[in-house]
Amino acid sequence: MCPTQLFFISLLILFIINSSIAENTKPFGYCPSSVCDNGLNISYPFWRLDYYNSTSPQYCGYPGFGINCSQSNSILYISDDSFNVTKINYNNLSLTLVDIDAVDHRGCPRVNHNLTLNHKFPLEYSEHDLYLNFYYNCTVSFPDSADRLDCLSSGGNNSYFYVGDYEPIDLKWYGICEKKVVVPVMDGGLIRGVGAAIGEGFVLDWQISKECGKCEASQGRCGYDNSTHESLCFCNDGTIKFDTCEGTQFLTHLHD
Ligand SMILES: *[C@@H]1O[C@H](CO)[C@@H](O)[C@H](O)[C@H]1NC(C)=O
Ligand SMILES: *[C@@H]1O[C@H](CO)[C@@H](O)[C@H](O)[C@H]1NC(C)=O
Ligand SMILES: *[C@@H]1O[C@H](CO)[C@@H](O)[C@H](O)[C@H]1NC(C)=O
Ligand SMILES: *[C@@H]1O[C@H](CO)[C@@H](O)[C@H](O)[C@H]1NC(C)=O
Ligand SMILES: *[C@@H]1O[C@H](CO)[C@@H](O)[C@H](O)[C@H]1NC(C)=O
Ligand SMILES: *[C@@H]1O[C@H](CO)[C@@H](O)[C@H](O)[C@H]1NC(C)=O
Ligand SMILES: *[C@@H]1O[C@H](CO)[C@@H](O)[C@H](O)[C@H]1NC(C)=O
Ligand SMILES: *[C@@H]1O[C@H](CO)[C@@H](O)[C@H](O)[C@H]1NC(C)=O
Ligand SMILES: *[C@@H]1O[C@H](CO)[C@@H](O)[C@H](O)[C@H]1NC(C)=O
Repeated sequence: MCPTQLFFISLLILFIINSSIAENTKPFGYCPSSVCDNGLNISYPFWRLDYYNSTSPQYCGYPGFGINCSQSNSILYISDDSFNVTKINYNNLSLTLVDIDAVDHRGCPRVNHNLTLNHKFPLEYSEHDLYLNFYYNCTVSFPDSADRLDCLSSGGNNSYFYVGDYEPIDLKWYGICEKKVVVPVMDGGLIRGVGAAIGEGFVLDWQISKECGKCEASQGRCGYDNSTHESLCFCNDGTIKFDTCEGTQFLTHLHD
């Protein structure tokens, strides 16, 4: 064999090795990261709710962590309420959310519902949050320690709020006010006013989901099949298994 032939054969071998490495290291074909129109990076364990449809019922990511990117919004739905996700920090596992309802009431802070974190999903309030307790339509004046919200006072009724820890423990609002709502805001955000603090949102932390522990420990990524209602584990080798990438229990092959 002459040197040129040898050269081309080695080149060919190199090429084959290279392309097979490229094949094998192309991980998680079903777990792509993508960017919303507003620039928010959506990566595992979050996924694009707007890419999902009933003809492709499998998604890679945690149930409940689907984000709907549409126009300039990136919406996460938590117990039927909509929150615009403005930041996701993949290093310390935290995200910043703004209540979509509240955004419509800029200048006059008004949130109509409590946020109920559903314990099916591994989301928790961050220690960077503090809580504002709002009382709407109160027929009796509150103690001076409460802040009155003039823009939500009308017809002789007043609305008030307390910064969580400063509220008297024996405050009896029931029967005096129509409604109490607890709103998380970022610690420090209040400097710019209540409305601004609500507009800047609050922080939630997420944890590795308990159900997903085995899959992630085997270098896999969790997902779900919404038609069979089964948890999935997307593995680095392109296979999809049930709860771990180790062992032989085998579900399907990934098709490109
Ligand atoms: C999005 O974030 C993930 C995780 O930090 C990173 O791997 C990926 O490169 C980012 N994508 C873009 C387009 O910035
Ligand atoms: C995403 O948001 C758009 C605009 O609000 C809405 O029309 C669409 O139904 C939402 N998609 C999903 C999957 O919730
Ligand atoms: C559903 O998703 C699949 C794959 O992403 C896509 O090819 C198909 O067009 C989508 N169907 C609808 C009705 O949006
Ligand atoms: C949602 O957040 C994005 C990014 O921060 C922003 O561009 C968009 O205007 C927000 N949407 C609303 C309704 O506040
Ligand atoms: C996460 O890190 C960012 C900086 O990268 C910091 O601003 C933020 O406060 C941290 N969040 C939590 C919940 O620790
Ligand atoms: C107070 O009650 C009136 C009458 O039901 C209602 O229109 C108004 O929105 C309420 N105000 C607040 C701040 O909830
Ligand atoms: C004042 O608040 C009470 C409930 O606390 C409500 O029944 C009443 O309709 C409110 N009146 C006005 C004028 O908003
Ligand atoms: C919100 O939660 C507080 C207690 O944390 C409760 O007293 C209040 O009634 C709740 N408000 C609504 C509208 O459910
Ligand atoms: C899953 O299926 C249910 C109905 O079976 C549907 O309501 C829901 O929108 C589907 N999608 C997701 C992402 O859960």
